[in-house]
Amino acid sequence: MNNDVRIAMLGSKFMGRAHSNAWMSVNKFFDLPCGAVMHSVCGRDEMATSAFGERWGWASALTDWERAVADPDVDLVDVCTPNDVHAGPAIAALEAGKHVACEKPLAGTLDDARAMRDAAELAKADGLRTFVWFNYRRCPAIAYAHRLIRGGGLGRIFHVRAQYLQDWGGPETPLVWRFDAGQAGSGAHGDLNAHLIDLTRFLTGEEITQVSGAVEETFVTERKLPGGGTGKSTVDDCVLFLARFAGGAVGSFEATRLATGNKNRNTIEINGERGAIRFDFERMNELLWWDDTLPSAQRGWSRVMCTNAGDHPYVEAYWPPGHGLGYEHGFVSQAADILASVGGAEPVVPIPDFADAWETQRVLAAAIVSAREGRAVPLDEIG
Ligand SMILES: NC(=O)c1ccc[n+]([C@@H]2O[C@H](COP(=O)([O-])OP(=O)(O)OC[C@H]3O[C@@H](n4cnc5c(N)ncnc54)[C@H](O)[C@@H]3O)[C@@H](O)[C@H]2O)c1
Repeated sequence: MNNDVRIAMLGSKFMGRAHSNAWMSVNKFFDLPCGAVMHSVCGRDEMATSAFGERWGWASALTDWERAVADPDVDLVDVCTPNDVHAGPAIAALEAGKHVACEKPLAGTLDDARAMRDAAELAKADGLRTFVWFNYRRCPAIAYAHRLIRGGGLGRIFHVRAQYLQDWGGPETPLVWRFDAGQAGSGAHGDLNAHLIDLTRFLTGEEITQVSGAVEETFVTERKLPGGGTGKSTVDDCVLFLARFAGGAVGSFEATRLATGNKNRNTIEINGERGAIRFDFERMNELLWWDDTLPSAQRGWSRVMCTNAGDHPYVEAYWPPGHGLGYEHGFVSQAADILASVGGAEPVVPIPDFADAWETQRVLAAAIVSAREGRAVPLDEIG
């Protein structure tokens, strides 16, 4: 295809699999101005990265991200490494003239995120684009709720209630990088609240102006090391906080990895003067909608199956009505929107760039200040 986008992907495990699947199938499902070319994959273990590259269709495999991002044959660098390995490769790639798609959260620290935002702003002048994989925006039910809310379907928004509940088990879950503050920045907070903050900003179209009442807790402080023995977890297991939005709405947020019985329960409820919506990722094809403009005898929660081509965003690229989508489709749809954007077309719904993800990162930072100093934190303080 003309306008091929040659991709170097950094990281080859969980997100490496999700992104590989997206890049290999995106041009099969979507008609796009650009084609994805799986140029190279980079991981830390040479044998494992080579085997991964062969299995998923990457043309070459390497272990040195500096080489991967400097390669003149690469057009876009896809960053799927731990949070402390986002800023270095992303900034180097922008300086080498590549577009960058980076996993969330933008970074483990506010300083890294600020440097990434600044590098992206500079690179814009050279026509370079940045993208952040807040993949849940591209669930058809969420993308439809976005259209509904932005079209005034809920009217003035009063309440935003967001919870991201996972159940990682107790101390038997080994001490991987996700439990190390130096590599991850935070625990459930940066991992899960980052998604909630992005989703609520996306759905309401309003920025968060103040965070208060935050609590941060680590229940399991000692975990097994993969090679034997134990080590300290230095991140939160959960962070809860309250928020005010620019349009006057108030919100509550809860992210935890110890919500026994909940696997990937990413839920949002938004209540407005004309109606309300509820979403739960464990039933990702459905949107619950209360239309408060109906005659009172007819009001009730409608369970809308968001699987109709033409009505519900992204669905036309996949299957007939009622043939539900899964976790992986959010990544395929995001890959499609990235290629559309690089090719000069509009994404189906907006994709966050580094400047947008920086706003989410500021809210994450404000919640930690609120938890540690026991006070309300205006977002103006976090820059
Ligand atoms: N969008 C989502 O819903 C979602 C879900 C999970 C993870 N993530 C994000 O994706 C990123 C990766 O998470 P994961 O779960 O895939 O982690 P993972 O541990 O499964 O994989 C990390 C990969 O990075 C590689 N790596 C680490 N350091 C490297 C280096 N210096 N050079 C080259 N490769 C290196 C490892 O070899 C491994 O292949 C994180 O930022 C995480 O927050 C996002």
